[in-house]
Amino acid sequence: MRPGRNLAAALCAISVSALAAGPTFSHDVAPILYRECASCHRPGGVGPFSLIAWQDAGKRAKLIAAVTARHYMPPWLPSEPHFQHERRLSPVEIATLAHWAEAGAPEGNSAETPPPPQFPEGWQLGKPDFEAQMRAAFDVPAEGPDQYRCFAIPTAPGRDRWVSALDMRPGNPRVVHHAILFQDVTGTARKRDTGAGYSCFGTPGFLPARGLGGWTPGSLPVRMADGVPELLHGGADLVLQVHYHPSGKPETDRTRIALYFTDRKPSRRVMDLPLGSNRIDIPPGARSYKVTDHFTVPVDVDALGINPHAHYVCTQMYGYAVLPDGTRRTLIRIPAWNFNWQQQYTYATPIRLPEGTRVEMEFTYDNSEAYRDYAGAGRRCGRTVADVVGKNDEATRRRSVPAAAEMITGLLVPAVSP
Ligand code: HEC
Repeated sequence: MRPGRNLAAALCAISVSALAAGPTFSHDVAPILYRECASCHRPGGVGPFSLIAWQDAGKRAKLIAAVTARHYMPPWLPSEPHFQHERRLSPVEIATLAHWAEAGAPEGNSAETPPPPQFPEGWQLGKPDFEAQMRAAFDVPAEGPDQYRCFAIPTAPGRDRWVSALDMRPGNPRVVHHAILFQDVTGTARKRDTGAGYSCFGTPGFLPARGLGGWTPGSLPVRMADGVPELLHGGADLVLQVHYHPSGKPETDRTRIALYFTDRKPSRRVMDLPLGSNRIDIPPGARSYKVTDHFTVPVDVDALGINPHAHYVCTQMYGYAVLPDGTRRTLIRIPAWNFNWQQQYTYATPIRLPEGTRVEMEFTYDNSEAYRDYAGAGRRCGRTVADVVGKNDEATRRRSVPAAAEMITGLLVPAVSP
């Protein structure tokens, strides 16, 4: 036999035996689930069930294969560009989960199962410089609409501080869908919050209202970009906006926050660049309604991150920059928008936008009944746009859909120090 044929036969034998063995939970599946799913799917996590033990994952193998094939799990909306802490499975990992499910979800040799991931109880960044919690626990009823609630948390009077990082710990991840921390220098929030917070859908109800950072399920502590800490005014009230989703049982929540300060003053300034519209009027049945906005940057800047936001009937988002030399760079592409999984994204590396770059944003909406039913169905806070804008479904069907402010915010800093 020629050596070449020998080699081919050997390769063939290897792949056949690998196929015959097939993926098992302990050898192939657990490492994927522990890395990409367990941050939410663990006891006490935000996911509806734990995926740590074979017993729990195995009986849901078909569902796991289905949601990963559709890219519904792990939740990650942008298809491009690259961001920090991406949650995405490779095609090989998706195929492994599918083959495992088809084979009846075998456990394999349980001694091979890697140790389950550990999730630290304490603050991940160590002891905070400022730590606080909601002044009282908030009661979330078993049923009813989602609630957006703002809680004022006073800070001690004193000098301005520079915030380099912040972290939040939901008191009750079963009902906390997301949380955003603002600061209020007007005293408004303090007046409105008489103990149990106040209702605040959209904005927290005062200006300026610049978010210091947010928490979404599975997110990591927020670190400000190097050299650009956020100013916390001495004596300002921190305002925690929490989106609650009833769990089916009466629950209480008391969310905690942690701030980390630095003495290094910023070398550059962060600016928000809001692009969007708050005069959106989508005719009933329109399947591909577009809203666009643009802005030409007047100086060299670095785009640090992007915070896409829209409501339920938005289907796609595309943001890009046209550089002065005509090159196009994608700033965000979301092929299937999902209101429930919005978050802020930080670029893997900042994107340099020279003076004269035109930043374009394009939102696409589908206001057909079919899509509204789809967008509202089976989601964590499954509702149609009618609920969001406070009209009943019938009224919205007859009239057009007025959407609240839809916008996208890039965080930009002048590339050259002032
Ligand atoms: C950031 C948190 C998070 C991560 C990471 C995550 N999930 Fe989920 N998952 C959820 C939440 C919350 C739900 C319930 C709401 C929903 O279905 O959207 C859910 C639902 C599911 C469901 C049920 C879907 C249905 O239609 O009933 C499956 C199955 C699932 N996840 C599997 C996975 C797998 C597999 C991974 C990893 C590859 C993963 N999830 C990663 C939060 C997460």
